[in-house]
Amino acid sequence: MTLQQEIQRRRTFAIISHPDAGKTTLTEKLLLFGGAIHVAGAVKSNKIKKTATSDWMEIERQRGISVATSVMGFDYGNYKINILDTPGHQDFAEDTYRTLTAVDSVIVVVDIAKGVEAQTRKLMEVCRMRHTPVMIFVNKLDREGKDPFEILDELEEELKVAVRPLSWPIDMGERFKGVYNLYRNSLDLYQPSKQKVTESVHLDIQSPDLKKHIGEKLAEKLQSDVELISEVYPAFDCAEYLAGRLAPVFFGSALNNFGIKELLDCFVEIAPSPRAIQAEEREVNPYEESFSGFVFKIHANMDPNHRSCIAFVKVCSGRFERNVNYKHVRFNRMMKFSSPTAFMAQKKELLDEAYAGDIVGLPDNGNFKIGDTLTSGEELHFKGLPSFSPEMFKYIENADPMKAKQLQRGVEQLMDEGVAQLFVNQFNGRKIIGTVGQLQFEVIQYRLLHEYGAQCRWEPVNLYKACWIESDDLAQLEDFKRRKYQYMAKDKEGRDVFLAESNYLLMMAQQDFKNIRFHFSSEF
Ligand code: G4P
Repeated sequence: MTLQQEIQRRRTFAIISHPDAGKTTLTEKLLLFGGAIHVAGAVKSNKIKKTATSDWMEIERQRGISVATSVMGFDYGNYKINILDTPGHQDFAEDTYRTLTAVDSVIVVVDIAKGVEAQTRKLMEVCRMRHTPVMIFVNKLDREGKDPFEILDELEEELKVAVRPLSWPIDMGERFKGVYNLYRNSLDLYQPSKQKVTESVHLDIQSPDLKKHIGEKLAEKLQSDVELISEVYPAFDCAEYLAGRLAPVFFGSALNNFGIKELLDCFVEIAPSPRAIQAEEREVNPYEESFSGFVFKIHANMDPNHRSCIAFVKVCSGRFERNVNYKHVRFNRMMKFSSPTAFMAQKKELLDEAYAGDIVGLPDNGNFKIGDTLTSGEELHFKGLPSFSPEMFKYIENADPMKAKQLQRGVEQLMDEGVAQLFVNQFNGRKIIGTVGQLQFEVIQYRLLHEYGAQCRWEPVNLYKACWIESDDLAQLEDFKRRKYQYMAKDKEGRDVFLAESNYLLMMAQQDFKNIRFHFSSEF
């Protein structure tokens, strides 16, 4: 196969959902279709089910599991599929945001009864920001839920994206009969069985045979629903989907393996192959001969005695090969890798080559930071890895004066790994850690102790948001920093950050300093 063909056949995507909507179940069924696993139940949810905050071992165990299932690659027909897993727990949302920078499209899973939930809304925001093409799978049709038209309105309104059903459910709950696939004009009949692939009849919606399959009443209802759909929604426009403006919607039941193959078949056909990626210097086309890629995730090892990590590199262009020299742009140094890893379903394998769209795991002991670029030699920096303003803040203090160095190193490395964000208050020099959730503080404390032998203590700090500030009006910027000196901090890249104590104070600052832009993510 040529480089072009290899890249074209790749589909790299993430499945996102609010916990419990069915992300793990759907992932598993996709793997089953790909022949990558053979029994259901093989994919373990990486949800942290227990909420007991002292459950350290559980967190650690989960981290171990999620290395193996971080990326699931498999062949499906002529396609090479890479599913990137995202943490289920919302306290690790930042991890998910970063994973979204490495995918070319996304499948969103929504529970028919619960509709759009908080986490779905948030993740969708990130997709919209990046114009990522999104497909929606409405799950659990074997249970009672909202009216399908109502769900479509809700999706459109809450996710702020136009929607277009490509399949339509025939009743639901115990009376659920199946779906009519509007993309292929086929009737897919449902049988509540967890493993069996459903039967599918190619049938025009107007066909008199329809009622033979689902009865007269349901056939009439389906015909009128489909008519209504074609009146309300314009015909499916793939270009709109690829531009991230239109989300096709499918219905089904992941648990019963229903509607999944239809989703997958349509997905491989219309979802984008690797797309051009913007670097600071220029746009990088995936089909370029020379290799480039960036680190979007770093995974620390389970074994506390060996502080080795795996750096996950998204190949952005060309081909990556084992034992070939590549430039680590930040170090301005050539490096080669003798044991890169490919992720095939649940196994890690030694990798000889990978193509744009693939994810390569590089064993690492401290050479990589999130956002690092590797190339065949060119000076490139990939953009698109913003940090978002954290939602919780605490001062971190050293609890063991003999281990100050260890603490500093540990904090530095954990921040490089992207576990949380560090801000240094310019007024008192104290370090503030910002996270998305309480659990992250616990993970940091635990890992500092077990991996670095350092002890930390958390102290409360009353903060509402950290905003990155910039202005073309340098005099006003200086004036602001002088007046707000108690609330000024630097992030780990040395950028100016304003620590707002409350929404009110933030609004006041925005009003009083009109020439300053306050950003809630680090990339602007
Ligand atoms: P998540 O990764 O998005 O958090 O969700 P997950 O797949 O773990 O699914 C959450 C729960 O919803 C699971 O039940 C799962 O079996 C169930 N589920 C998934 N798809 C369907 C569906 O199509 N229909 C129905 N009725 N249920 C579905 P659980 O009881 O939490 O876990 P388990 O003990 O069954 O594994």
